[in-house]
Amino acid sequence: MVNVGLIGCGYWGPNLLRNLNQLENTRVIKVADLRKERRDYVHRNYPQIQTTKNHEEIMEDPDIQAVAIATEARSHYTFVKSALEKDKHVLVEKPMAMNSKEGQKLVDLAEDAKKVLMVGHTFIYNSAVRALKRYIQGGEVGDVYYIYAQRLNLGRVREDINAMWNLAPHDISILNYLLDAEPVSVSAKGVSYIQEGIEDVVFMTLTYPHKVTAHIHVSWLDPSKVRRYTVVGSKKMIIYDDVSDAKLQIYDKGITKKTITTAFDQADDFGKFQLIQRAGDILIPQIKYIEPLRTECIHFVECIKKGDKPITDGRNGLAVIHVLEAAGVSLCSSGREITIKP
Ligand SMILES: NC(=O)c1ccc[n+]([C@@H]2O[C@H](COP(=O)([O-])OP(=O)(O)OC[C@H]3O[C@@H](n4cnc5c(N)ncnc54)[C@H](O)[C@@H]3O)[C@@H](O)[C@H]2O)c1
Repeated sequence: MVNVGLIGCGYWGPNLLRNLNQLENTRVIKVADLRKERRDYVHRNYPQIQTTKNHEEIMEDPDIQAVAIATEARSHYTFVKSALEKDKHVLVEKPMAMNSKEGQKLVDLAEDAKKVLMVGHTFIYNSAVRALKRYIQGGEVGDVYYIYAQRLNLGRVREDINAMWNLAPHDISILNYLLDAEPVSVSAKGVSYIQEGIEDVVFMTLTYPHKVTAHIHVSWLDPSKVRRYTVVGSKKMIIYDDVSDAKLQIYDKGITKKTITTAFDQADDFGKFQLIQRAGDILIPQIKYIEPLRTECIHFVECIKKGDKPITDGRNGLAVIHVLEAAGVSLCSSGREITIKP
């Protein structure tokens, strides 16, 4: 049995609480939240779980082996550091920290302490994203040309961080995962409409190795909920729409370059080609839905039990922070392209 303490039970924390609590080999024994109404929520729904407003009670509890952290992003570094120093495994919500220096420190601490440090990049545990990766890595789309992603909704407007730090960690982690690579540069432009200095909408362009370009559009100021990816490759094109029943749509569409040769292979024909437009079938594969957070929680506990490294470990979280940090510099310099230093 793995005993877990949860710090932060606002909007997302209850989902972690429910999923961790449903696992056979895991028990959430204590929840800390500063707000009484959130502690009351835990009392009402999980009377067996102790609550406290003091997170130190979780850090100091010798019966707790693992800590899940779902507080505001700016507090993650301090909580993760403290939990690792108390010899506990950690599952922290995204982003793992607010800068790469702190992120690196957490990675080093976890490695020194031989503890699991996992980041809640939930979409990596989403079966549609996993299937999309199989199609890309299996060669179905051919060479990936470019990908664009949209993560839009009306709200929830945050007051502590901008839309990029709040929403784009998902997309950066998905793109790195799909492409098995990290971007070499990024540029970002964003605008603050509602609160001064907090961008509500951000457009980012990421350059990956081998000329692959990715574009991310995040906003909490949009009329509809959109979670959509378009992958354009040399052979096929795929749409991943997380809010649709047809989560993946594979289009046998593309432009084929056909070299023209003559019977006598005349010298002046060399290099001539014809561009042929191809529009074949659309395939909608069956994707078995399992709540991604459940898969994520199972993976966390398995890593603790087996001493494995999580797929979304501290290094994975740090790679996302490198991109966000460089994008932050770009945001402040009118979208200048910034090289990402690993
Ligand atoms: N993985 C996902 O899909 C996903 C979705 C939503 C949010 N999140 C992440 O979850 C985290 C929390 O987001 P949220 O929307 O739930 O925020 P929230 O503001 O609704 O909740 C945060 C909670 O933490 C509590 N808290 C803050 N400081 C504390 C302290 N010192 N001790 C105890 N409790 C404390 C607050 O009282 C609050 O209830 C963020 O990092 C966010 O990015 C992840």
